[in-house]
Amino acid sequence: MDSVFRPRRLRRSETLRRMVQETRLRREDLIYPMFVTPGKGVRQEVPSMPGVFRLSVEKLAEEAKAAADLGVPAVLLFGLPQKKDETGSEAAHPKGMVQQAVRQLKKQVPGLVVITDVCLCGYTSHGHCGLLRPSGEVDNDATLEILAQVAVSHAQAGADIVAPSDMMDGRVGAIREALDETGLEMTAILSYAVKYASSFYGPFRDAAESAPQFGDRRAYQMDPANAREAIREAALDVEEGADILMVKPAMPYLDILARMRPEFDLPLAAYQVSGEYAMIKAAAGKGWLDETAVMLESLLSIKRAGADLILTYFAKQAADLLGK
Ligand code: PBG
Repeated sequence: MDSVFRPRRLRRSETLRRMVQETRLRREDLIYPMFVTPGKGVRQEVPSMPGVFRLSVEKLAEEAKAAADLGVPAVLLFGLPQKKDETGSEAAHPKGMVQQAVRQLKKQVPGLVVITDVCLCGYTSHGHCGLLRPSGEVDNDATLEILAQVAVSHAQAGADIVAPSDMMDGRVGAIREALDETGLEMTAILSYAVKYASSFYGPFRDAAESAPQFGDRRAYQMDPANAREAIREAALDVEEGADILMVKPAMPYLDILARMRPEFDLPLAAYQVSGEYAMIKAAAGKGWLDETAVMLESLLSIKRAGADLILTYFAKQAADLLGK
């Protein structure tokens, strides 16, 4: 052993290791996705996502307040409608679940940043993310108008950031224009810029009851085989006015995050999706993995790959640990 450089010199104590740490996970990095459902007093656990609940508005406010008290700066809201139809008409209703929840959160948890998911899949009877042509194909341009209405209704309710997750071409531009025309030029857009057609969304589709009733989403979400295309997708969203870019899922796509980081100056977000959460929970539940350690390592890895912000169902749990 005659090497001059010994990496272990700086690993000898906890303090030394902390000093030379290149990546730091902070509570401010976390965004907590939540599901708001009709009714009163509802707190219904999602079977495939232990610890995640469908909540009615007042229960959601309690949970969001608890998260904020632990230092989580933002939530992302998904709504379940009273009734689904062909065009997802409830999505843009001023008294829809998301719109009601935003108003309530702005009143009860004023410091919390409220982000809303803008999509139609939870609201359409067919479960696709847009309007259908008679052929069954999703009609891109007709969908843009509805998405813009949904985003405006969320912003009017008080959302700080709207997050389109539909993957229609041109939606960021359409939403930006509609917001600006309505005097909502200060509402930001977090674009699900690089969203893959992933099987890791399975548990979410149970939670949001949003599985497509026929076919799949491969005609609008990205092919998991493609990396260069991610740069093109994200560049388009930047041109159209996105304020934050997201990659989704996170762990299986860390290479995409790492490629995007030097290409874009905007904040980058990554979504640790339902399937990633469920895998950790299931293995931990069997005693095969240490839940806390694996959770923190997964979040740190996502940050190290290039994410500034992480959407995770572990947000509350992680913030609690990071605050100690
Ligand atoms: C809606 C949407 C999905 C997710 C977020 N927004 C599911 C999908 O595209 O089917 C997935 C989130 C998760 O799995 O945690 N378009």
